[in-house]
Amino acid sequence: MNENMKEREFQIIPPPYRIKVVELLSSEQIDIADNRERREKAIKQAGYNTFLLKENQVYIDFLTDSGTNAMSDNQWAGMMLGDEAYAGSKNFYHLEKAMRDVYGYRYLVPTHQGRAAEHMMSELLIQPGDFVPNNMYFTTRRVHQELAGATWVDVSIDEAHEPETWHPFKGNVDITKLDALIREVGAGKIPYMSLEANVNMAGGQPFSMENLRALKALCDRHRIPIMLDGTRLVENAYCIQQREDGYQNRSVRQIAREICSCTGGVTVSGKKDTLVNIGGFLACNDKKLFLEARAMVVVYEGLHTYGGMSGRDMEAMARGIYEMVQDRHVAARVNQVEYLGHQLIQAGVPVVVPIGGHAVFLDASRFLPHIPQEQYPAQALSAALYVESGIRGMERGLVSSGRDPITGQERKPKLELVRLAIPRRGYTHTDMDFVAQAIVRLYRARDKISGLQMGYEPKRLRFFQARFKPVGAKLMG
Ligand code: F0G
Repeated sequence: MNENMKEREFQIIPPPYRIKVVELLSSEQIDIADNRERREKAIKQAGYNTFLLKENQVYIDFLTDSGTNAMSDNQWAGMMLGDEAYAGSKNFYHLEKAMRDVYGYRYLVPTHQGRAAEHMMSELLIQPGDFVPNNMYFTTRRVHQELAGATWVDVSIDEAHEPETWHPFKGNVDITKLDALIREVGAGKIPYMSLEANVNMAGGQPFSMENLRALKALCDRHRIPIMLDGTRLVENAYCIQQREDGYQNRSVRQIAREICSCTGGVTVSGKKDTLVNIGGFLACNDKKLFLEARAMVVVYEGLHTYGGMSGRDMEAMARGIYEMVQDRHVAARVNQVEYLGHQLIQAGVPVVVPIGGHAVFLDASRFLPHIPQEQYPAQALSAALYVESGIRGMERGLVSSGRDPITGQERKPKLELVRLAIPRRGYTHTDMDFVAQAIVRLYRARDKISGLQMGYEPKRLRFFQARFKPVGAKLMG
C-alpha cells in the first residue's frame, strides 16, 4: 500500500460544480501581489505572524480551510429561508434531521463553532486529575481538555510524527500505547478516548477502519467511550475508500456513518466539512450527556435550538451536510489538494507525505535546516512565503505547540510545519500552479531566510497573536 501510494500516477478529478458568482479581489490585494516592498512592510507590521495580516494584504489566502468555503447556490437559497425565531426555529429541526441522517447520532446540541462544543464536552466529562488520550492534538481541543483539569496524552502511532514516511493511515491510534496508559492510570481515570478524523496537526492524515475497530474493541473492554472530533470526517472517510481494502465500493456517506457508529459522540466545527462560514455542534447517543450539554449551552452560547447560530446559518449547514458526503465533491476536493502537493513533491520541495486531505504541509525542518527549532523555522517560513508571493499560510510547529501548563516549558513538537490549507470550492487549479511556482522559487532562495525570536507571547493559544522579530537584520537577507 505504501509503495502504491508513492508510485501512483496523479490523475485530475474535475469538481462537480460550475462557477456562477466570483468574489473580486480589491485593488490593494492586486497591488500586494505585484509589490514585494509592500509585503515586506506588511509582515513586519504584523510581527511576522500571518494571523495578524489584514485580509486586504493577502493575495491567496491559505491560512485556513475554516469558514472560508464557498457555499453552493442551494445553500445560499437556504439562507433566504432562515427562520430567526428565538425558540424552535424550523432550521434547527432541518439541521437535526440532517445530522441524524448522515452522522447517525441521536441528540444534537448546536454551537457557534467547534471549540464551544469542545468546551462543553471537556467540562462535562473530565474530572481534575483525569487523562485524555488523543491521536496527536488539536490546539483548541487540547486546551479545553487541560482547562478542565486533564492531562493530554498522545497515543498516535510513531509514523504520525515522521513527515517523510509514506504511511497510508498516519491518524491511527497506537493501540499498545493506549493499552499501556490504561494499565498505568486505570480506566476510571480516562473519561474518553479523543479521536480526531484526518488529524490536522499530523498533516491532514486519516485513521483506518481497521484501526478504529481495534480501538473500539479495547475501549469497549474498559468501558471508555470514543469521542470523535468529526471536523474533517468526510475527508477521512474518502481516504478509507481510496486506501483501505474492502472499502472501494462503499460510498463516503456509508463510511462516514460507519465511523460515527463506532463512537459515542462527536464535536464538529461546521466551518470545514459542512461547507459553511460559521457553526458547529456536539452530538451524542447518551441522553445524560445530551441533557447536561443542553443545559450548559444556554449559559455560554444561546438557546438549545440555535446555540449561537442564526436560523439561516443552521439551514446552510443542514444543506451543507448532505452536499459534503457526495462522493464526487470529496474526491475533487482532496484531489485539488493533492494536485498542489504533487507539484511540490516533483520539484523536490520537502512536504509531509502522503499529502493531507485539507492542506499541503511544508516541512520547515528540512526546508530551512540552518534555522534551529528555538528560532521558529516554520514561523519564519510562513512569513517568508508571504514576502515572496502574497500567499498566506500558517505555522504548525513550536509556536502552535505552546507551553506545558505545569512546567511552563515550551513543548517541542517533532513536526515543524507550515500549513497551506485550501478552502473548499474557493480556488482554481491556476491558483495551485501559481502557489507551486512561488514555493519552488522560495525553496531555491531558502539560504537567505533568517530565524525569528518571539517578542510578545500570549498565555494560551499563543500562535494566534504572538509577535516576532528576525534574528538577523532582515527576514530575508
Ligand atoms: N477541531 C479541529 C480538528 C479543527 O481543525 C478545529 C479548527 C477545531 C476543532 C475548532 O473548531 O475553529 O470552529 O472553533 N481549526 C481551524 C483550522 C481553526 O484552521 O484548522 P472552531
